[in-house]
Amino acid sequence: MARITASVYTSHVPAIGAALDLGKTTEPYWQPLFKGYDFSKQWLKDNKPDVIFLVFNDHATAFSLEMIPTFAIGTAAEYAVADEGWGPRPVPKVFGHPELAGHIAQSVIQDDFDLTIVNKMDVDHGLTVPLSLMYGQPDAWPCPVIPFAVNVVQYPVPSGRRCYNLGKAIRKAVESYDEPLNVQIWGTGGMSHQLQGARAGLINKEWDNRFLDRLIEDPEGLSQVSHIEYVREAGSEGIELVMWLIARGAMSDKAPTVKHRFYHVPASNTAVGHLILENN
Ligand code: DHB
Ligand code: FE
Repeated sequence: MARITASVYTSHVPAIGAALDLGKTTEPYWQPLFKGYDFSKQWLKDNKPDVIFLVFNDHATAFSLEMIPTFAIGTAAEYAVADEGWGPRPVPKVFGHPELAGHIAQSVIQDDFDLTIVNKMDVDHGLTVPLSLMYGQPDAWPCPVIPFAVNVVQYPVPSGRRCYNLGKAIRKAVESYDEPLNVQIWGTGGMSHQLQGARAGLINKEWDNRFLDRLIEDPEGLSQVSHIEYVREAGSEGIELVMWLIARGAMSDKAPTVKHRFYHVPASNTAVGHLILENN
């Protein structure tokens, strides 16, 4: 049987990808941010997954206002790195795991979550920046990745509650896969940020840290937080945080071990949050 051994949570700010790609990680602005991931890179070397189930959001790159799936699972063998306007990032292409992805789709859809099946998709910074933060700049990503895209761009977006319950269905799906795979689930996006309007640049450290506390200790309660609270307290793009609840819902019901916690402001317009939780 496959098992979810750990979950990783991280912001995905595109400027972080540019800083890496342009060799700016030791500049004073970026150095403290990348330092927060030193532990994580070592941890990932010591805790190598067979597959990463990576919950992220597409930013009108693969999808657009013409077609917006609420939840989309990547079942392809590989995914090209998207051109988001400056050419594709110079990072390796992403290999998928069609067998496990197909199994998860079957199980989760039978559990009444209507996933969109995606057999071809270019992946944007929402997926590649978390990989870069955790792996640095390898010639090839060390393991297959199942991309799981969530609509947090165009309302109506899914509730935290639904995301948390979907995570539980993903856990059940993984645990019914007939091969002893070590699976990590990553929840990405957030933390507080607002990219437009009068409140652009909004950062709410207190709310973000309370979110991290509750994600660890009280995910069930946290899953009840309304959309309006995310938007009011964490800014319009703070709603990306509902994706973290999918990863948390996929963890065991027992309290997790907190391996790493990091919070940094600012990175571009955004607060960066990062957690590593191991299953018990
Ligand atoms: C920024 C953050 C994001 O999450 C994003 O998708 C785009 C831009 C930013 O802070 O610049
Ligand atoms: Fe984003």
